Amino acid sequence: MEKHVTHSVSFTLDSWSSRRLQSVERCLDDWVSADALAGAALGAPPDLVAAMRYAVLEGGKRLRPMLVLAAFEAASGHSEEPSTAALRAACAVELIHAYSLVHDDMPCMDNDVLRRGKPTVHVQFGQASALLAGDALQAMAFEVLTPSDASVAPDVQARLCALLSRAAGSTGMAGGQAIDLASLGCTLDEDALRHMHQLKTGALLRCSVMMGAACAGASALVTDALEQYGIALGLAFQVVDDVLDVTSDSATLGKTAGKDADHAKPTYVSLLGLERSQTYAAHLLDQARAALALTGLADTSALGALADMVVHRSH
Ligand code: IPE
Ligand code: IPE
Ligand code: MG
Ligand code: MG
Ligand code: MG
Repeated sequence: MEKHVTHSVSFTLDSWSSRRLQSVERCLDDWVSADALAGAALGAPPDLVAAMRYAVLEGGKRLRPMLVLAAFEAASGHSEEPSTAALRAACAVELIHAYSLVHDDMPCMDNDVLRRGKPTVHVQFGQASALLAGDALQAMAFEVLTPSDASVAPDVQARLCALLSRAAGSTGMAGGQAIDLASLGCTLDEDALRHMHQLKTGALLRCSVMMGAACAGASALVTDALEQYGIALGLAFQVVDDVLDVTSDSATLGKTAGKDADHAKPTYVSLLGLERSQTYAAHLLDQARAALALTGLADTSALGALADMVVHRSH
């Protein structure tokens, strides 16, 4: 207990994340490049790689990679250099996330022109390139998880691919996006709205935490408690995204504010109103913290601080 208090007093998320963010940025920059991965042998078209790099690099909070690394460190007790597996998992989930944003912004989905403070990929490169960049980023995520050298054990590779494919697919992010599009102009009840949010956004966030736990070889008890943390944080994230769409502005968000009401999207704000949505996000933060306490791990400071950031962020 005393140990835990000491950690939380001296801990700041900025100082914890700066080195980890640098590692993630460097790896993404290396991997999403013309001569990386299969591109080296097969000659990836430069225009496609340019669209992929535009989608992934320069911008984004990198919340999902930080969750992978924080869960890995909490569960393994190691906080020096991240393991190869954890760093690859961190980048892989960010590649899936970046692809989901590219497609989310396309005219056939949310039809958005601004993302991470820049014109969206389809505005910059055209719709066909945006579609293909998203496809290629999704595939690249699984290439990153399956290096051909022995740096990631085969059973860990398999577990990471299982987690990420399920979180990205029809029972995860893609499924949630389908519900989102089918729900325009509809009023969802709270159960249906929670289900949509847990799929479209929660699944990848929960998966980030689970991948960190898998890289650490966490016990079933620790994995279960971390999963509860990831579920609460994942839902909180989208509740706050709904809130920020109403309370913030496009310059702060780096994406168009006010779009949800314009598109008649069912959101927590449209269902519960602003104040109750904020109260619900705070309640989910408490749930996430309670789940961390159940892990019994010595140091969950970074995971706790990331949950705080999710609920109290400005963008
Ligand atoms: C935005 O996610 C899309 C949602 C899932 C709501 P983030 O807010 O994590 O976006 P970036 O990565 O920081 O741009
Ligand atoms: C997007 O949700 C979730 C994804 C799977 C990308 P939103 O449509 O609310 O995300 P933003 O507000 O455009 O970032
Ligand atoms: Mg959307
Ligand atoms: Mg959108
Ligand atoms: Mg949104």
